[in-house]
Amino acid sequence: MKNLNDILQFNILILLSILMIQCTGTGAKQNNKTALKSNEMPQITKEMFGTTFNGQAVEKYTLSNSLGMQVDIITYGGIITRWTAPNKDGVFQDVVLGYNSLDQYMESNPYFGALIGRYGNRIANGQFTLNNNTYQLAQNNGKNHLHGGDKGFDKVVWTAEPMPPKDDSVTLKLTYLSVDGEEGYPGNLQTTVLYTLTNENVLDVEYKATSDQETIVNLTQHTYFNLSGDFSNTILDHEITIDADAYLPVDETLIPTGVVADVSGTPFDFRNAKAIGKQINDTNEQLSRGLGYDHCWVLNNQNSGLREVATAYHKDSGRYLEIATTEPGIQLYTGNFLDGTLPSKQKGETYNYRTGFCLETQHFPDSPNQSNFPIVVLKPGEMYNSKTTFKFSTK
Ligand code: BGC
Repeated sequence: MKNLNDILQFNILILLSILMIQCTGTGAKQNNKTALKSNEMPQITKEMFGTTFNGQAVEKYTLSNSLGMQVDIITYGGIITRWTAPNKDGVFQDVVLGYNSLDQYMESNPYFGALIGRYGNRIANGQFTLNNNTYQLAQNNGKNHLHGGDKGFDKVVWTAEPMPPKDDSVTLKLTYLSVDGEEGYPGNLQTTVLYTLTNENVLDVEYKATSDQETIVNLTQHTYFNLSGDFSNTILDHEITIDADAYLPVDETLIPTGVVADVSGTPFDFRNAKAIGKQINDTNEQLSRGLGYDHCWVLNNQNSGLREVATAYHKDSGRYLEIATTEPGIQLYTGNFLDGTLPSKQKGETYNYRTGFCLETQHFPDSPNQSNFPIVVLKPGEMYNSKTTFKFSTK
């Protein structure tokens, strides 16, 4: 009997070991898979991620919910470096592009996962006028200003404070003071970003800012998604919806022409679900200018506060992403400038053309210079407030 028990115990041990190896994953393609956890309280853990070239310590926080979803956020750029979501079989995989090390983020980052400020998207010639003062910003994208300049919010170290966990969510608070004149913008801008992960597989991103002088603000989040969970796949098979009857055509330098164009009968009509790849290679002047989609859509129901504005669906994995926002616009960028030179998180691989897409909620590009666009001015005593939520499910 004793021998039989020993054999049984030994077999159970072997079985458990095999299960553990399967759960932690093996091989390059599986290394971003994690096992389904359940019934755990949401929590935040912290570890060191590295040190910047000028000696600032960078922390990494992992937000976990009770369903097993995890979001890693580093204090450099407030970057989401990893975000696991379940497929239709309950298998969790990382669904956001990024790097494995801080050095890679500092060396060359096309804004993977980053917070963008002070002004998301482009400002023509890097210039705008407020109260008769003309401000010259960095021209870091041809002759235009892009995503806050040479050292935007994606390249600064934020101060992090994990909030006490609640039963149904965890929140990481990030703050950053951008001083008067930083990157050419007026006013001391105190910014807070709250990342909240809920037990409904929702990540809320809430932005608040105040300034002691009149200034302009347009904050966003620049995560590149690939819902397949394998970054060697393109995103052309992802089906997208965007609740917008109009979009903003651009000039050769990707600055809106000022025209608000009807999407009807164009490749820009995403009012019904359509694969990103369905019309991306159509002969179309706007698509050639963006090398694909790199445009801002004029969202419907702009006065309705937080409302669902876009979805993305990857049929093979069943992953479904719903985006809600308080913002009037959304930029769909289809990874047109990824060219196989940047290293992937998947060992030995690189990020190829159109292997990630961004849906960046925001005010319209170049608003300070376009009088028919909603205003982006923040006055002293006012609070900039913007919210975007990302909800994952499967179908
Ligand atoms: C812009 C693209 C730009 C990309 C940089 C997007 O938000 O719309 O034009 O190339 O960011 O990664």
